[in-house]
Amino acid sequence: MATIALYDNGGHRNLLLEDFGRGQAVQANQHLIIHDGEGMLLDPGGHKVYSKVLGETLSQLKNGKLRHLFFSHQDPDIVAAANGWLMTTDATAWAPALWTRFIPHFGLDNLVIDRLKGVPDEGMRLPLGNTEVLLLPAHFLHSPGNLQVYDPISKILYSGDLGASLGMTYQETPDFDSHLQYMDGFHRRYMTSNKAMRAWAAMVRTLDIEIIAPQHGAFFRGPVMVKRFIDWIETVECGVDLIPEAYSIPPK
Ligand SMILES: [Fe+2]
Ligand SMILES: [Fe+2]
Repeated sequence: MATIALYDNGGHRNLLLEDFGRGQAVQANQHLIIHDGEGMLLDPGGHKVYSKVLGETLSQLKNGKLRHLFFSHQDPDIVAAANGWLMTTDATAWAPALWTRFIPHFGLDNLVIDRLKGVPDEGMRLPLGNTEVLLLPAHFLHSPGNLQVYDPISKILYSGDLGASLGMTYQETPDFDSHLQYMDGFHRRYMTSNKAMRAWAAMVRTLDIEIIAPQHGAFFRGPVMVKRFIDWIETVECGVDLIPEAYSIPPK
């Protein structure tokens, strides 16, 4: 359990709350952006990490305020503790509009449901203090309604499940080629199609990116690593690309 500063210029900090969860649940990263005392927490996770992530978030904010919660998509490793976060903070929660009528099934209290806001399919710009972050469309990567966050100050692209890696112990990817083994299977099975991958690559190539930080596993730092990642993503065949002509009935 550790908090790592991916960027810190005093007034603007990007913190990675790494591995606050243990046990059978898949390893997940929580990311906190703080600008002039206003906080935005990305993909806060489920019940097992809720109290630790809340404690760390409040201690990092000090006298500041959690303004935004961001849910990249509807999966339980992201939204399961949504009610707790909305009950204990004044934050507004942002999720793909596609999912705002499904997320309440995780048990959102009537008192807080008005603070869950839908982000339109095309994405939007979200104010944070006197700056703003971009909520980018990244649909079908993997969820049909799926968003990513780009922070223009730190130049970090928060890529959610895209770029997820499982099974290694480091936090920063040291070598792209040897890292591929930890990403490959996940991307082929969970990502939806190469067409979605290419649409994403075409969008993010227009951004100035220093770090790509996924929700699971290690992040990618520096222009060479970022380029390697985008180039790789563009080539991955996944999801519907790999569907056979016919599914098979399970044998007896
Ligand atoms: Fe997911
Ligand atoms: Fe995930």
